[in-house]
Amino acid sequence: MMSPIGVFDSGYGGLTILRQIRQYLPSHDFLYLGDNARAPYGPRSFEVIYAYTLQAVEALFERGCKLVILACNTASAKALRSIQQNDLARWGDDRRVLGIIRPTTEIIGSLTISRHVGLLATAGTVQSESYNLEIQKFFPDITLTGMACPMWVHLVENDEYDSPGADYFVRKRIEGILRLDPKIDTLILGCTHYPLLMGKIVKYTPAGVRIVTQGEYVAQSLVSYLERHPDMDACLSKRGTCHYLTTENPEKFKESATIFLHEQVEAEKIELK
Ligand code: DGL
Repeated sequence: MMSPIGVFDSGYGGLTILRQIRQYLPSHDFLYLGDNARAPYGPRSFEVIYAYTLQAVEALFERGCKLVILACNTASAKALRSIQQNDLARWGDDRRVLGIIRPTTEIIGSLTISRHVGLLATAGTVQSESYNLEIQKFFPDITLTGMACPMWVHLVENDEYDSPGADYFVRKRIEGILRLDPKIDTLILGCTHYPLLMGKIVKYTPAGVRIVTQGEYVAQSLVSYLERHPDMDACLSKRGTCHYLTTENPEKFKESATIFLHEQVEAEKIELK
């Protein structure tokens, strides 16, 4: 039976993670699910994000996935722990759900010199304090300043990330976070949608401030997870395929996913409940 690695995001952002993971694991099969009909998750409450994320994880389990990556910081921050503690057991002991916050927090100490780090993310991720808690575990000497960027996901989901209007919103948040802590030398893009705004983010970030995206670290961490869990890896099917599910219009998904992935894809519509 096929057991692809499930990759979930509220929308298209997780595709930036999927692209990197596939470069490291080209033979594995993947099943991507974007809950585009209900994106963005960023401003939603803990209860709603938990309920939606659980529905998505269960939909991926029902389609044969044994391992699911929450390629969404908001879902990782708000729902991962609850799903692991309350829900996984119902599915037997061979299913796993992993988030994407830890891989970045584990290495951030080797990237900052000033020990002042900025986090640009959704309101949900910033308010959850997940990055702060994780970073404090590994690097208690680091000061983290978070800033929610409420418009950024909308710009990406609506194909406006390259428009002149996007400059205003990108500049506002970068200047805002550097005003809060001028000593920041490292900025984490803690939302999987944000790499699409990279051109503009670089434009407004002073030279000398490093911009950190997650894809590479998440991919390396997944490779190492599979090396440490050969039983899980043995269950995963390896034909190099990737299928896409969306809760919205598959034609629109196809069009936007092409921009994220630089390749043509087909998508199937599913309902989550
Ligand atoms: N891409 C998701 C993240 O990494 C969130 C986008 C949203 O608000 O739905 O946080």
